[in-house]
Amino acid sequence: MGAGIAQVCATFEHSVLLNDIGDEFIRRGVEGIAKNLDRDVKKEKITDTDKASILGRIRPQSSLTEGLGDVDLAIEAATENVKLKLDLFKTLDANLQSSAILASNTSSISITKIGAATSRPERVVGMHFFNPVPVMKLVEVIRGLATSNETFTAVRDLAAQLGKTPAEVRDSPGFAANRILVPMVNEAIYTVYEGVASIEAVDTVMKLGANHPMGPLTLADFVGLDTVLAVLDVLHEGLGDPKYRACPLLRQYVAAGWLGKKTGRGFYDYRATVTNGAAAQTAAPASR
Ligand code: CAA
Repeated sequence: MGAGIAQVCATFEHSVLLNDIGDEFIRRGVEGIAKNLDRDVKKEKITDTDKASILGRIRPQSSLTEGLGDVDLAIEAATENVKLKLDLFKTLDANLQSSAILASNTSSISITKIGAATSRPERVVGMHFFNPVPVMKLVEVIRGLATSNETFTAVRDLAAQLGKTPAEVRDSPGFAANRILVPMVNEAIYTVYEGVASIEAVDTVMKLGANHPMGPLTLADFVGLDTVLAVLDVLHEGLGDPKYRACPLLRQYVAAGWLGKKTGRGFYDYRATVTNGAAAQTAAPASR
């Protein structure tokens, strides 16, 4: 999602430093952005010159401790691991100018907790984008307990300036969108696990019966099954209600490394490619 966020910020004229755990990942991110922009050029939504200007505003940044002097806002979009995020925020806090805002794109981890790991909790806020970032209009803007009005307003206004619709949400497990969406996905997995319907049937039911653009199991593969599981565990632990317990089938898929599209296999198998280069989507066996 970091690349998508960088693309949107650069499209709306912001200078962006793009960092990841290694140069290889930064390179892949920039390639993904270039591919998205090529698609927009082909559709004549932007020109080649626009594409070059957008890419020109994105600078690969290998270091999180050097060259960050004039950064006004950092948006973290690392994997859903509390320790990793707290470490990242401590590093950013130590290396960014004191006026900078630190935002997290976390799907569910407490903004209050992330803020408390820094010396500037009033400048820490949730800025939760949705996948695919260039397409999805929503940004949840989450106030931690200590987030100042000034920080909240700055990030809410930025989301609007990026062409998104901000929604104000309190800091609570899963915030609002994932508290509603992810239990629905979990229920879809239980429906397969209990043999009520096949993977394809569950997706068809929700696409044609509820007008969802993607079935919940395709969506889970798209988001990443590890992320879905991480959100469920945060909901379960944070709200203490057994209705949020993750389906054993989901845990098994994650244990197998079947994390969805990004690993080539999840509820569907994406490893085979068809002649036009698109991923073939066939149902993988849902072992019980
Ligand atoms: N990056 C950029 N643009 C993309 C894209 C991507 N990965 N995938 C599709 N698009 C663009 C296409 O270029 C196309 O643009 P135009 O309208 O300009 O032609 C547009 O999106 C529609 O794409 P398609 O016609 O190829 O396909 P589609 O109509 O099936 O739409 C979709 C694709 C937008 C992904 C749609 O299936 C959808 O809305 N799916 C649900 C997505 C969703 O629910 N996201 C939230 C996930 S939860 C989350 O992110 C939060 C979390 O914390 C877990």
